[in-house]
Amino acid sequence: MNEQERIKHLSEKIDYYNELYYQKSISEISDFEFDKLLEELTSLEKKFPQYRLPDSPTQRVGGSINKNFNTIKHRYAMLSLGNTYSEQDLEDFDQRVKKLLAENEIPEQELEYICELKFDGLSISLRYENGLLTQGVTRGDGTQGDDVTDNVKTIKTLPMRLKNSDFPADFEVRGEIFMSLDVFKKINEEREAQGLDPHANPRNTASGALKLQDSAEVARRKLDIFLYFIYGENLPFKTHEECVKALEKWGFPVSPTYKKCRNIQEVLAYINHWDKERKKLPLETDGVVIKVNNLSHQKALGFTAKSPRWAIAYKYKAESVGTLLKSVTFQVGRIGTITPVAELQPVQLSGSTVKRASLHNANEIERLDLRVGDTVFVEKGGEIIPKVTGVDMSKRDANSKTFEFITHCPECNTLLVKNEGEAQHFCPNFEHCPPQIKGRLEHFIGRKAMNVESMGEGRIEVLFDNNLAKNIADFYDLTAKSLFGLEKTITDPETGKQKKISFQQKTVENMLQALEKSKEVPFSRVLYAMGIRYVGEGGAKRLVEHFETIENIKNATLDELLKVNDVGQTTAESVFQYFQDADNLQTLARLQQAGLQFTHQSAPKVSLGTQLAGKTILYTGTFSVSRELLEQKIAHYGGKFVSSVSKKLDYLIVGDGAGSSKTDKAKQFGVKMISEQEFFDLIGENPANATMITPQIAPTTQDNKKKDDSQGSLF
Ligand code: IVH
Repeated sequence: MNEQERIKHLSEKIDYYNELYYQKSISEISDFEFDKLLEELTSLEKKFPQYRLPDSPTQRVGGSINKNFNTIKHRYAMLSLGNTYSEQDLEDFDQRVKKLLAENEIPEQELEYICELKFDGLSISLRYENGLLTQGVTRGDGTQGDDVTDNVKTIKTLPMRLKNSDFPADFEVRGEIFMSLDVFKKINEEREAQGLDPHANPRNTASGALKLQDSAEVARRKLDIFLYFIYGENLPFKTHEECVKALEKWGFPVSPTYKKCRNIQEVLAYINHWDKERKKLPLETDGVVIKVNNLSHQKALGFTAKSPRWAIAYKYKAESVGTLLKSVTFQVGRIGTITPVAELQPVQLSGSTVKRASLHNANEIERLDLRVGDTVFVEKGGEIIPKVTGVDMSKRDANSKTFEFITHCPECNTLLVKNEGEAQHFCPNFEHCPPQIKGRLEHFIGRKAMNVESMGEGRIEVLFDNNLAKNIADFYDLTAKSLFGLEKTITDPETGKQKKISFQQKTVENMLQALEKSKEVPFSRVLYAMGIRYVGEGGAKRLVEHFETIENIKNATLDELLKVNDVGQTTAESVFQYFQDADNLQTLARLQQAGLQFTHQSAPKVSLGTQLAGKTILYTGTFSVSRELLEQKIAHYGGKFVSSVSKKLDYLIVGDGAGSSKTDKAKQFGVKMISEQEFFDLIGENPANATMITPQIAPTTQDNKKKDDSQGSLF
């Protein structure tokens, strides 16, 4: 590859990872590897500026990828806290505070502390003007951060409008945005169902979510928040406790776990109490924050360059135990990625037995210099997923050998491949490698795909073993005769428990019925179910809406595929390649033969006029009418509602309280911005009288299943 090609290749790759990260919050490679790619591109472009692409990812503001948020200077710097890990440090802190107070002639007896749990999330600064949330800014470098107002507004527990009326006209609150353990678990289950690596911990997942460009997508991540601080001019409070009580009164979510302590012994008792209890909480905590309660004492104590002298963070040590590394096994994922797994001598850790831990990739094994037979330290990373953090060298056998990563797939013996700049090895035998085939079959019947529920739980394994399902189209050739009586005993690798899978009459009936029912599943889900690389649920929907029929998708050129909103180079190439393959075309023909849906069933078309024909339109902010109504009006007058600002956008309708991320982009691209009234003038309607047209279609099973997704209180 020459330099020009390398530059093009790197740019595309970075764009792909960026899109995945910012649109879908998925990181397929580590930050380190991403930075390496970006660095290589930057240095190559420096040497060969003539080859730099006009839209190179290095050209985003400051080379930073957070370019799509405005930078806002904090009115009050967002400081950090000094950390300690020992009781001795805390006693020293107490002594320092007392000494400084004495120097200011404040009697020691007046000293009180407030202890709060230290929540493991992202700190945020929120501004309220006249009781309304007007701005949310991330910590950034402490002096300035990203304007993420639209995204924080998706946090259901956060009040947009305050309760009572005794709040200052203009003030700021500080708090921690986090993802509850339940939501984190669900997201990871979904990722695993899609064959993706699980996210490492809730903190990073919350952080990724908050930086997404599309607020609707952020809302789906169900972030939550606790507030713990107020900043403003001439506030009436005398103590931190009064501030916290005021926050509660105005309707802010405040964790009720805070406590007033009269001396350092009570602080230590609080720390010990919560060391155990915090594991029962529905969110992650990594320590305790100890604050001097009296605000005039705080003032007397002041600040160092980086942090206040009146507060300190005590961090709980991550629990770590040593155990024997018995062996390393290798898992092959649905899309062929190879993950090494440490098989450990079972050991108790933070209340559960740990037997296995992911080692991620070959680099990680090398970094830790792991050898079979070593005693390794295991920690619960973020208290959830066990992690091997190091080797007890004092126990290493002198004859141990360095670990050799496998060269061939453990399942199909194909030579493994590792792409330059990527961390993970993968098995390229997509067509015939058993776990990859089984993974595709499982994906096909998954809840979000064809939803053939009664098929799950090891049944695919049995069908595969009996040569009844090797290809997704085989499902539709299954008959009661071929299924009845099949059975197999399987062993769960996690629990070691044996389980018998059998195909009794009722099971068989249910399966065949579910398969029959799956023939009604709409086209976009069928396309997603087909498991084309890089085509997720959203991508499938966009392709289907754009092309309407499978024939159009199949015959589309790469350029035509690239025209679909939000479909990038990698996805487009993958779709194009998929339909070049004779086996895939045969599978498709069989699925069509079976009677699956391959045509877009859009809601019956209503036309009220052609004023917006051919126009693409997006809105931002709030309006006197609902967003659904706006979207319907756009469609009914021939326009197309799109999800992001691009050069191609014709109008951005700007409502009240619109954030700046979309309007700035619109300015940058020269997109015309119109008000709600101007929009209604265009279509010749009056917003005060505008109504929705309700289509007479039966609700989908999806709608029926919609759960109450309100989060309620966490405690
Ligand atoms: S008070 C002047 N209280 O920990 C600093 N911080 O290292 C005021 N944090 O950036 C911070 N829970 O992100 C405070 N109850 C709590 C906290 C808390 C978590 C985070 C916060 C801050 C970091 C301090």
